[in-house]
Amino acid sequence: MSDDRLIVALDVPHAVAGLELTRQLGDAVSFYKIGLGMLTGGGLALANELKQEHGKRIFLDMKLFDISATVEAAVRGLAQFDLDFLTVHGDPHVVRAACEGAAGSDLKILAVTILTSLDRADLDAALIRDGDIPDLVATRAARAFEAGAHGIIASPNEAAVLRDLPEAEGRLIVTPGVRPAGADAGDQKRIATPARAIADGADHIVVGRPVHLAEDPRAAAKAITAEIAAA
Ligand code: C5P
Repeated sequence: MSDDRLIVALDVPHAVAGLELTRQLGDAVSFYKIGLGMLTGGGLALANELKQEHGKRIFLDMKLFDISATVEAAVRGLAQFDLDFLTVHGDPHVVRAACEGAAGSDLKILAVTILTSLDRADLDAALIRDGDIPDLVATRAARAFEAGAHGIIASPNEAAVLRDLPEAEGRLIVTPGVRPAGADAGDQKRIATPARAIADGADHIVVGRPVHLAEDPRAAAKAITAEIAAA
């Protein structure tokens, strides 16, 4: 079995393309992320197939946010799909409701603190209180952990600070925004290498384009797991 610290983002338009990519990757990858972009393209059916027939682990990246009753009902329904990780926004009421919905299953709830695409001006526009983003991220992470989150989604640049939070003891840190040395950053701004992210305390790294746009995706994935193993 390959190193499940690498999670490959299946950022392709539909389940057929997703299945083809997982065929190419074969036993080089054992953990996949399915996002909102694929939901209407058969994402949940693909999640089921990868899990039940291929023994892969599945991270459903839905970033849920709603009133508590709705979040709890949505998560209770999703928990029947035998998923491994599910994202919700890190507001304590959302995290608590998601954990209630996941109770009795193995589904782990990961909280998003502040989307990495937002800057201070966006937070001002959304009436989010003053403060540096790294401080707000750490505070929101601590509150999400207190509310029961099994883990946090974070930029690799925040991993070390979050790992040191007392509330993070025994919880997961999962970092997208990871680029092997020399890889194209694309639209990611705050990036780190796989080895750096793991050394800073990430339990899993999420990698999309450096794998699925590679000429040889399987070789790209294997290079990343080799880098992690050496970290
Ligand atoms: O292609 P790339 O490696 O940048 O893909 C990263 C994946 O992680 C994408 O699916 C993206 O939506 C997701 N993600 C992210 N930053 C976050 C949360 C999720 O890049 N803060």
